[in-house]
Amino acid sequence: MAELTGTRSPTATLDAATLAKDFPLLTREIHGRPITYLDSAASSQRPTAVLDAMRNYDETTHANVHRGVYTIAEEATRRFEAARTNVGRFIGAPDPGREVVFTKNATEALNLVAHTWGRTHLGRGDVVVLTEMEHHANIVPWHMLAAERGIELRWIPIDDDGQLVLDDLDAVLDGAKLLGVTCMSNVLGTLNPITELAAAAHAAGAVVLADACQSVPHLPTDVASLGVDFLAFSAHKMLGPTGIGVLWGREELLAELPPFLGGGEMILDVRKDGFTPNDIPWRFEAGTPPITEAIGLGAAVDYLRAVGMDAVRAHEISLTAYALDALNERFGDGIRIFGPSDAEARGGVLSFALGEVHPHDISQILDQYGVCVRAGHHCAKPLMRRLGVNSTARASFALYNDERDVDTLVEALDEAKKFFA
Ligand SMILES: Cc1ncc(COP(=O)(O)O)c(C=O)c1O
Repeated sequence: MAELTGTRSPTATLDAATLAKDFPLLTREIHGRPITYLDSAASSQRPTAVLDAMRNYDETTHANVHRGVYTIAEEATRRFEAARTNVGRFIGAPDPGREVVFTKNATEALNLVAHTWGRTHLGRGDVVVLTEMEHHANIVPWHMLAAERGIELRWIPIDDDGQLVLDDLDAVLDGAKLLGVTCMSNVLGTLNPITELAAAAHAAGAVVLADACQSVPHLPTDVASLGVDFLAFSAHKMLGPTGIGVLWGREELLAELPPFLGGGEMILDVRKDGFTPNDIPWRFEAGTPPITEAIGLGAAVDYLRAVGMDAVRAHEISLTAYALDALNERFGDGIRIFGPSDAEARGGVLSFALGEVHPHDISQILDQYGVCVRAGHHCAKPLMRRLGVNSTARASFALYNDERDVDTLVEALDEAKKFFA
């Protein structure tokens, strides 16, 4: 943990049941039962503070940004840029106003790196190293570049506990130009040793692209102590809205990159014979940006900061340990839980196989009990192949879940098991 986040072991705690009251959706009933929302790794719910901030902006301030010189246009620009700075500070960006690029989602942020950095720096025979546990969003852009440029993809394997095998790390990184690695697996929950990986990659002359989709919402994040060069994440997994993601990049790396998409906002001048790109970060933000969404993301960051990321992490370790114990105790050999057995080595994501019951059947039966879990390949097909399965069921936690949610999950799984016995 300390390695990933660069912070002390978490000790603070939080009151999940009280926090849950801030989330209007969590008062819903499904099939006559209170909802038990266990799919925050796919998309988390939003607190009233986020919904209100977006509504307040829309009702009082909305205009396009960076264009008008009238009052609300200037206010909108100020609020939009303040959200950028706020998000940057949340992840420890040394220069938040220049290093935080707003994108549509994390997928677009990862593609941005492949398109701009990749096309600038990679040619035939160059090596990009990925891990076996990457999400498709950090695999497919590199496959596309490999097809276009003839680059080689190398893979860091995982062991049976769902941890990266780092014995041959120096050999794998030898000659590599980029390491793409997830901070936390969206399937296994594994927390990767990012600081160690970044140091090894840099020693080999490679830059490091971290996919922080699953870690930024759940752990303190400090890009400086992680030592990475690029970091991508999505607002909708961290209590914010859909439609906005973030790419953080080291200032000197972003500054030398060409634009991503072309259009308005990303230029300083356009002539018949060409154009002059804008400064960073706007160079990478073609067209009208997600303004209301940026306001919502800023409010989500305020909410998380007020709760405290150490407290979020401490709560999720304890809840994950409770869930591992409860599931193993109830189902014993009848359940296969993927990923590290130690709750401290993982985040609050539990993928599992329950006997021969198909994950989609599990999800459908659980829905009858108001329990929302994800079933599928979780956009990690190379990992599914490594695990020897086509899909898994996955329960994932956020700061609003508590032990009662786990108890409800276990009871509902028991019913599913009986139904298919
Ligand atoms: C680890 C990881 N990376 C990338 C993504 C892609 O995020 P988005 O769909 O918001 O672009 C996800 C979403 O599930 C994820 O869990």
